[in-house]
Amino acid sequence: MSNTTKTVLVIGGTGAQGVPVVKALASDSKYAVRVITRSASSAEAQELAKLPGVTIFEGDSYHEPTLREAFKGVSYVFANTNGFATGEMAEIYWGIRLYELAREFRIEHFVYAGLEYATKLGNYDPKYRTGHLDGKGKVVDYIAAQSTTPMAWSVLTSCLYIEGLTEILRPFPDPNDPSTMVFAVPLGEGECPLIYLEDYGAYARWLFDNPSRSNGLELHVATEDIAWKDLAAAFTEVTGKKAVYKDVTLDEYFKLGIFPEPDAKVGHSANPNEPTLFTFRENFSGFWNTWKDNLTKRDYKLLDEILPTRVKSVKEWMERTGYDGSFASVLKDYRSQDRNTK
Ligand SMILES: NC(=O)c1ccc[n+]([C@@H]2O[C@H](COP(=O)([O-])OP(=O)(O)OC[C@H]3O[C@@H](n4cnc5c(N)ncnc54)[C@H](OP(=O)(O)O)[C@@H]3O)[C@@H](O)[C@H]2O)c1
Repeated sequence: MSNTTKTVLVIGGTGAQGVPVVKALASDSKYAVRVITRSASSAEAQELAKLPGVTIFEGDSYHEPTLREAFKGVSYVFANTNGFATGEMAEIYWGIRLYELAREFRIEHFVYAGLEYATKLGNYDPKYRTGHLDGKGKVVDYIAAQSTTPMAWSVLTSCLYIEGLTEILRPFPDPNDPSTMVFAVPLGEGECPLIYLEDYGAYARWLFDNPSRSNGLELHVATEDIAWKDLAAAFTEVTGKKAVYKDVTLDEYFKLGIFPEPDAKVGHSANPNEPTLFTFRENFSGFWNTWKDNLTKRDYKLLDEILPTRVKSVKEWMERTGYDGSFASVLKDYRSQDRNTK
């Protein structure tokens, strides 16, 4: 790494989404990578610290004096804020504030990890209100209203991680016929996009490498938009195990135990008395209504052009990773036992 190597500050770099971004940025010596984390001793931070060119910066990314230190000497920023920790209101604040700090610190290129603005896409029908989507979606609209000079900006809009099929989306054995696996979601006939996180990291790298194309671009990424009956069929083809899609109502979905306390608030680091927080039931009702009604769209031709090696289907991902429906941890937050202090 030479003295002239420019540094990328990654916010959220220890998370499921951030780790592949850090790995893609550090895959050669083009960039130095600074990862901000609340704890340098977490397994994720220690694994990243071993990569050449990666340094760990200990501190809270939702604390301005800390951010001001973290921004020093940085040329690029990748920001994935954590709406599940902050709640929607604080996520909007920090997204905008990060953009402003980036301008103040003369950052060359700011890449924001976006999500779909469900409420706007659903013509403001409250059935689509989803705190963790809308918060990022509003920040995306703010960023998209900014000039592309003197600082370049890009938005990398993602969707459910395909890896969620081992965690939040995993199948369970049918109680009446345990040889059949049941994939149960309230998706109707909708097609839901899923993104392979390693490819997500590669798209992030492409955005930084290609500012002439990526400046001002909102890139919506996914591996495939897939109907859940096709997902169950792909599972059977790959594993030989029987599988069905069960289209459940929202009420049935929240009884499945995926969210142990459906009426608890989303935002484990927020003030619990903050009145704008959603419950899991409210948040994930809007979420599934959004995918059920196919409100979002991706340009797969563009994705093929940007990343010809991308995994192109859920089936291909299942084959590549030896997916068999069993549990594997994905989200750092779920692993963390003491969410507020680690
Ligand atoms: N689950 C999905 O399928 C999915 C898909 C697309 C987008 N997202 C979005 O991704 C974001 C979460 O990132 P992730 O998926 O990478 O989650 P994750 O694996 O649970 O990681 C959480 C990340 O947030 C950071 N963080 C900072 N302050 C935090 C706090 N007070 N509490 C908890 N974590 C804190 C953590 O850093 P340290 O612990 O190192 O400080 C870590 O990097 C959310 O906004 C979510 O909406 C999720």
